[in-house]
Amino acid sequence: MIPFIDLKAQQKLIRDKIDKRINKVLEHGQYILGPEVRELEERLSAFTGSKYVLCCSSGTDALLLSLLGLKIKPGEGVIVPAFTFASSAEVMPLLGAIPIFIDVKRDTFNIDPTKLTDSLRTAKDIGINVKGIMTVGLFGQPAEMDLINEFAKNNNLWVLDDAAQSFGGIHKNKIVGNLSEAAATSFFPAKPLGCYGDGGAVFTNDREIYEIANSSHIHGMGKKRYEYDRIGMNARMSTIQAAILLEKLEIFPEEFSKRQIVADNYNKNLNSLDLGIELPKINKNFKSSWAQYSILLPENINRDKLQEFLKSKNIPTAVYYPIPINEHRPYNKYPVSKSGLDVTYYLSKNILSLPMHPYLKEDEIIYISENIKNFIKKY
Ligand SMILES: Cc1ncc(COP(=O)(O)O)c(C=O)c1O
Repeated sequence: MIPFIDLKAQQKLIRDKIDKRINKVLEHGQYILGPEVRELEERLSAFTGSKYVLCCSSGTDALLLSLLGLKIKPGEGVIVPAFTFASSAEVMPLLGAIPIFIDVKRDTFNIDPTKLTDSLRTAKDIGINVKGIMTVGLFGQPAEMDLINEFAKNNNLWVLDDAAQSFGGIHKNKIVGNLSEAAATSFFPAKPLGCYGDGGAVFTNDREIYEIANSSHIHGMGKKRYEYDRIGMNARMSTIQAAILLEKLEIFPEEFSKRQIVADNYNKNLNSLDLGIELPKINKNFKSSWAQYSILLPENINRDKLQEFLKSKNIPTAVYYPIPINEHRPYNKYPVSKSGLDVTYYLSKNILSLPMHPYLKEDEIIYISENIKNFIKKY
């Protein structure tokens, strides 16, 4: 089977360095908040240009800590895309806040900025005080942050960027992590920058957001040990994960370029106008970190059958995401923007993600593309 994500190929390249890093942690024994965590925060700050970076236990916790830092209160609203992973929306209700679902664009899979006014009006009409927008850099490409930030500014809202999939991505002259009031990423193993367990980070240029998130991630600690300023949680990053990420960050820029080459190869080999496959579009002066390479299948194609066929050819595929978030029982009571979620529903029926990792070879990409095209031609 062609690996959907090949973590083994990457590990082979850096195994010795990772072993050394882990051994160092075993020697100093500071498994929690050891020096590697601070070192990683400094490196991530230099990498993204974000003034404050807080490493933590997962991407979901990074979103939760960011919302705490942004001082969201029960009953307040946050506009969030319906076409995303559960974490983006689950953190609002956990704090008593309300997600308001907005549609995305068919070619970039990210928030459609033209629908923001309508989403805000939907919330206002039912008495919800909207405080912010959560953008999601789905599959690796940042959202259209300049337009979204402008809308936010005009309406007195903040923007929290869920960059779990888009870490490393570029928006014009800026790198993800530094595009809005706060950003949160995930270091889940399969992410563009992943560790060997759970991990995440909060990025911000705002000292207060950082200080609240930092305190909250260690039980709401105050200035002194065992003195508490707020209700918090345990969301610390393990030192061993930080040690692993320090080595992974070293090869990240090279892997980022390799992922682009893989995407270019897919674009070249799948580009067949007559077959009606829609390829992912990257906006001008944007760069994707290509967490996923996802295509839109023509409507007449049975996706399950195609997946089965590809599996028989040793090609794994995945559907991110088969059901819009607002359709799931815990979320179906939250408001949906009046302009609807037509694109979200369309994508959930027709999207397909293909194997994507920096070490995918050109002949494998040709093999995958040919099999997809042959199936569609015969269908
Ligand atoms: C868009 C998005 N947001 C948030 C998360 C949550 O990250 P984690 O699994 O590290 O909690 C993920 C992870 O899959 C994600 O894809």
